[in-house]
Amino acid sequence: MSKKLLRGRVLYFVSAPTGIEDSSSYRYFDDGGVVVEGGEILACDDFDALRQAHDDCSIIDHRPYLIMPGFIDPHLHFVQMQVVASYAANLLEWLNKYTFVEEQRFADLVHGRDISAGFFDTLIRHGTTSAAAYCSVHPASVEAFFGEAEKRNMLIIGGKCMMDRNCPDALQDTAQTGYDETKMLVEKWHGRGRNYYAITPRFAITSSNEQMEMVQALTGEFPDTYVQTHLSENDKEIAFTAELFPEHQDYLAIYEHYGLLGRKSLMGHSIYLSERELGVMAETGTVAVSCPTSNLFLGSGLFDLDKNIAAGVRVGLATDIGGGTSFSMLKTADEFYKVQQLNGNRLDPMTSFYMMTLGNAEALSLRDKIGTLAAGSDADMVVLNAGATPEMKIRLATVETLAEELFLLQTLGDDRAVVETYVAGEAVKSGLG
Ligand code: GUN
Ligand code: ZN
Repeated sequence: MSKKLLRGRVLYFVSAPTGIEDSSSYRYFDDGGVVVEGGEILACDDFDALRQAHDDCSIIDHRPYLIMPGFIDPHLHFVQMQVVASYAANLLEWLNKYTFVEEQRFADLVHGRDISAGFFDTLIRHGTTSAAAYCSVHPASVEAFFGEAEKRNMLIIGGKCMMDRNCPDALQDTAQTGYDETKMLVEKWHGRGRNYYAITPRFAITSSNEQMEMVQALTGEFPDTYVQTHLSENDKEIAFTAELFPEHQDYLAIYEHYGLLGRKSLMGHSIYLSERELGVMAETGTVAVSCPTSNLFLGSGLFDLDKNIAAGVRVGLATDIGGGTSFSMLKTADEFYKVQQLNGNRLDPMTSFYMMTLGNAEALSLRDKIGTLAAGSDADMVVLNAGATPEMKIRLATVETLAEELFLLQTLGDDRAVVETYVAGEAVKSGLG
């Protein structure tokens, strides 16, 4: 396996920044390098030191660009690529009118393969190297999804939606078939190569008590898998959920009752949580995954980051394609910043870039593998150009600090700022043509 030395300005985080000045939270090398072999990072340091210690490398020069860990997207729906930009008044209308119609097409394996190939190539184009995604209810969609992820050797989490009510018949499994299909898929895909399974009850509205019990049984049988679902996103959704589960005191209590909380449980949106719910999320290590472009697009609400952090809740930041409107984690951070402004919070750019990388890796309990350039981790990287467009170039001329450069990348950047994406040590964006 050939050994490579990537040269450029190198940045990665080692902890959550306490503020814009917190230089102990990251490692930055103005003339730095990353040594890669066999999909793994062997070393990350000053370029000269690396060149001396590793004189058997081919050198790839990315100067003056910024080399960072690849972005991580911990909540999106691959089956909704063709739902993006659907005009609806709110979440439930959007689900019923567009999403539940589109997802029916994924009974067809060929369609699933087609869309998932486009999906992973799109992630790569945007510098996203890992993701946690929802498939449709159909096992074929999961086969297509993991099959395409495996071809690209990406670290990917996914799972089949389980839903046995309140959606079209063609999208329903039953408590028993949902259990059987999920079990078969976990056994086949969880831990195969870089793939991991997420048991995926879509949300409380579409799962009966009987199905929730089966979900609980699955989490007992496969404690190492993830759980992903939606929580407290929109007022009408919350009201309907309360009607369906009157015996539970709040939304989170439903998932709590079925033992679905924990450090590998990802709760999409989590906007309107009570003090009690925040306390339980924190206590159990359950992750709130915020999806700002989706929350703005569907008019769902404003996730309060400071409130979650103060409560001790672990937080992820995600696109939620196709409720979300951009595959770009840069654009997602841009909108997240604006949402925090409206909440009266300050979100500094160091924290944003931490969240897109190490923070999301931590949210997925994967910081030993991804979101970092530390020796021994997986060689998933993005190379960023803060002067990628004419207007970025003009603004870049006045930038003096690293934080300013990151803020510019976040505010004006998108896939055009992604010069290259590396997956398991291989340059893959340039290969897409
Ligand atoms: N809640 C249940 N399903 C979905 C979905 O597909 N998208 C969003 N944004 N919320 C959901
Ligand atoms: Zn979602």
